[in-house]
This record gives sequence, structure tokens and C-alpha cells, in this order.
Amino acid sequence: MPIIEFDENRCDCNPGETLLECLDRYNCPPPSSCQSGLCHTCLMRCVKGTPPESAQNGLKDSLVKQGYFLPCVCYPEGDMKVVMPDDAAAPHTSAKLIEKTILTPAIARLRFAVDEDFSYIPGQYTNIFKSDEVARTYSIASVPVLGDYIEFHIEKISGGIVSEWIFNTLKEGDELQISEALGECFYQAGEEENNLLMIATGSGFAPIYGIVRDALNQGHTGEIHVYQGAGMAEKLYLVDEMKILAEKHENLFYHPCLSRDATEDFESGRANELALTEHADLKNWTVYLCGHPEMVKATQRKAFLAGASMKDIHSDPFEFAKT
Ligand SMILES: Cc1cc2nc3c(=O)[nH]c(=O)nc-3n(C[C@H](O)[C@H](O)[C@H](O)COP(=O)(O)OP(=O)(O)OC[C@H]3O[C@@H](n4cnc5c(N)ncnc54)[C@H](O)[C@@H]3O)c2cc1C
Ligand code: FES
Repeated sequence: MPIIEFDENRCDCNPGETLLECLDRYNCPPPSSCQSGLCHTCLMRCVKGTPPESAQNGLKDSLVKQGYFLPCVCYPEGDMKVVMPDDAAAPHTSAKLIEKTILTPAIARLRFAVDEDFSYIPGQYTNIFKSDEVARTYSIASVPVLGDYIEFHIEKISGGIVSEWIFNTLKEGDELQISEALGECFYQAGEEENNLLMIATGSGFAPIYGIVRDALNQGHTGEIHVYQGAGMAEKLYLVDEMKILAEKHENLFYHPCLSRDATEDFESGRANELALTEHADLKNWTVYLCGHPEMVKATQRKAFLAGASMKDIHSDPFEFAKT
């Protein structure tokens, strides 16, 4: 059984247990969020022993060479001594809340001022820190050239540690820490003439709102079909803004969809099912999928079966933290 040394602790890592789960069992876990290797919140460094390669997927080469790894996807193969990361490996930026708007009872829009050297591509995500130990991952909905702020859309999860704090406590003027921007679900250079299919559920619309405006701003000429879905009308937001955007761009087709409520204003059904019924042949299309993890995974497979190449399917499953 591998032994994990961390601070003063010597922890036995059980078979089938991740290093994060092991440290959690010994009450000394690093901060974590997605617990699936996406957000990098849990980043640690191995100073004795070797982390498995699979625990270093998605890290920059310079970090891999220094022994950094992601404990939430690390199944130790031998003894390891691990430490918390240096500040330089996991850079944080101060962000000041300059605007908080409750868009619907379930969705808030937050705009933060950040240092001008914070760089991102619309659709990437960052970690918002509630405290040194507690962080959650949120996608960036803004476009740098369209505004001097970074924007998030947060869905209120009942009993959620961070989303409820954002809704109920965080106020304009407050400052907090965010991580660097990560992720590869963004508008790709060279696809200006491709047809794009974008599907989002709930606050999964945040990255799509950034990506679609980035594409239009870069002069995209192919068709863009955006399917925004929710169960109830209270979770569909920025509908009027999207309708106005679609009126301005003849290659943009906007489909707000409700799966549970039926009203004349919205298409009736699940956004992913409607999208794939109306676009049954996705050969040479680029597909973007963001939101509920099950929707993203199921639609990824269906888009591939409809002819889209795996390299042209970009996705952000909003994996929940295991609390
Ligand atoms: C790459 C990525 C990007 C993301 N981007 C966004 C974004 O732009 N906007 C956004 O609102 N969220 C986003 N999320 C989700 C976000 O990181 C949090 O998981 C979410 O806000 C819940 O955190 P919480 O602390 O409020 O709830 P927690 O305290 O973590 O969870 C409380 C309980 O609710 C459950 N739960 C958590 N989320 C959901 C859910 N969606 N539906 C049902 N049950 C749930 C948990 O399993 C737990 O039992 C993203 C996640 C990832 C991985
Ligand atoms: S990468 Fe480990 S918690 Fe997200």
C-alpha cells in the first residue's frame, strides 16, 4: 500500500483511492473543485517518488518537469512525498466585484475588474476562491475587446457552498482571488467558414455567450446555431440580448428551449435533442457543448455519430465538486 507523506502526516493510500481522497481521509486535503482533472485547483508537487503520468495530463511541460500533478486523478503507484504548490505554479489574481445582477431567481451575472495582465480566451474557466481552502470553477462569459471586466454567470445550487455565498453574501466592492484561466473550449482560429453548433444547458450558457460573441467579433462567416436549454423559464437568461444579436447577424440562429415548461416564446424540448434532430448531419461542423456533465457526455457521442470529428467537438462538462 503506497505511503503518502504530506506535512507531518504519513498516510496509507488504499487500493483504488485517489491521493486526494486519501489526504481527505487523513483530514489534510488541498483545496479542490471539479475532482476530475479539469480545474487544477488541487495542484500539488511531488518531491519524492513519481506521480503517474495520467495525473499530469493537461499540465504545462514546465510543471510536469517539476513534479506537479493533480491529486484528484492520481492513483499512486508507489510511495510519494508531496507538498503544496509554489505561488508561481498556481498564480492567483485579485478580482474586485464591480457589478452583480440577479438575472433570474436562479442565475446571477457577476462582473469583476482584474489586473490588465490577467489574460483569457472567452469560454475558458477560472477558479473563484471563497477562502484559501474553498474554490469552485466558473466559465468566463466576457470577451476582452468588448469590455474591461471579466464576466461570470452563476447558477444558484440549493445548499451549494460557493454559489449560495455568491448569491447571498458577495457584494459589489468585495475582492477575492481567482486562478489563471484554463481550458480549451473556445473559438478556434481557422474555422471562420465552418458551421458551428453550440448547445448549452443552465449556466452552461456562460462559456457559449463568450464564444459566440468572440466568433462574431472575429468575423465568422459560417452559420452559427445556438441552442440554449433549461427546464424552466427561470433558468433561461439573456434571451433578449441573444435575439438582438441574432437580428444583427444573419448567420446567427438562436434557439431558446424549455424542456419542462411549454410556452409560445420557446422551442419545446431538450436543447441537445432538438439541436441534433434539426442538424442530423454534422460532417465538417464544429460543435460546442457546455453545462450538465451527463448532457455533455451523451451529446458528444451523438454529435460524433452524426459525423462531427472528435477534434471538432469542444466541451466543458460542469462537473460538481464532491462535497
Ligand atoms: C469546467 C467547469 C466550468 C464551470 N462553469 C460554471 C459556470 O460558468 N457557472 C456555474 O454556475 N457553474 C459552473 N460550474 C460548476 C461550479 O464549479 C460548481 O460546481 C457549482 O457552482 C456548485 O458549487 P457550490 O459550491 O455552490 O455547490 P457544492 O457545495 O459544491 O454542492 C452542493 C451539492 O449540490 C450538488 N450539485 C452541485 N452542482 C449541481 C448542479 N449543477 N446540479 C445539481 N446538483 C448540483 C453537489 O453534488 C452537492 O451535493 C463549472 C464547473 C466546471 C468543472
Ligand atoms: S483538477 Fe483536481 S479538483 Fe479539479
